[in-house]
Amino acid sequence: MTEPLQIVKYPDPILERETCPVETIDDALRERVQEMFALMYVSSGVGLAAPQVGWDARLFVINPSGGSDLSQEQTFINPQIVARSGRELGEEGCLSFPGLTVHVPRATRLCIRAQDLQGQTFEVEATDYVARILQHEHDHLLGILFITKATPADRITIDKKLKEMRAAAQPS
Ligand code: CO
Repeated sequence: MTEPLQIVKYPDPILERETCPVETIDDALRERVQEMFALMYVSSGVGLAAPQVGWDARLFVINPSGGSDLSQEQTFINPQIVARSGRELGEEGCLSFPGLTVHVPRATRLCIRAQDLQGQTFEVEATDYVARILQHEHDHLLGILFITKATPADRITIDKKLKEMRAAAQPS
């Protein structure tokens, strides 16, 4: 795993596979997580899950500020959503689906438990925008893509985009 990280895009099958729990939190993992943050920032993202860089590991990173405020960086290793409530429709995109924005219903409030980069278990509560990011990224770790949760009204847009992306992925 020494090559520079790249964003994995649909239809790469790794995006639809459930990830393996992280067992060892060491320097190699911490280094790779820093690379994920860097790649997320150059890609103008607010969240990035390990499968999106071709890494079969149950972890994701977020920064709701998009990188303008580094104190908002958070790493979630082996996360579990322990409570959620409320429901709201909102717009979502995904770095593995560049240019696609769809409407996805999500809980507006949640509590998530995970390990940090030191292996310590922590719990955070989040609402609205941050709750949405956390649910989107948590889904990635289960191989669940946001397009499968989008509103039926977005189906035509999604199908068109998927067709384009599958065609672009064909070896010429
Ligand atoms: Co995504």
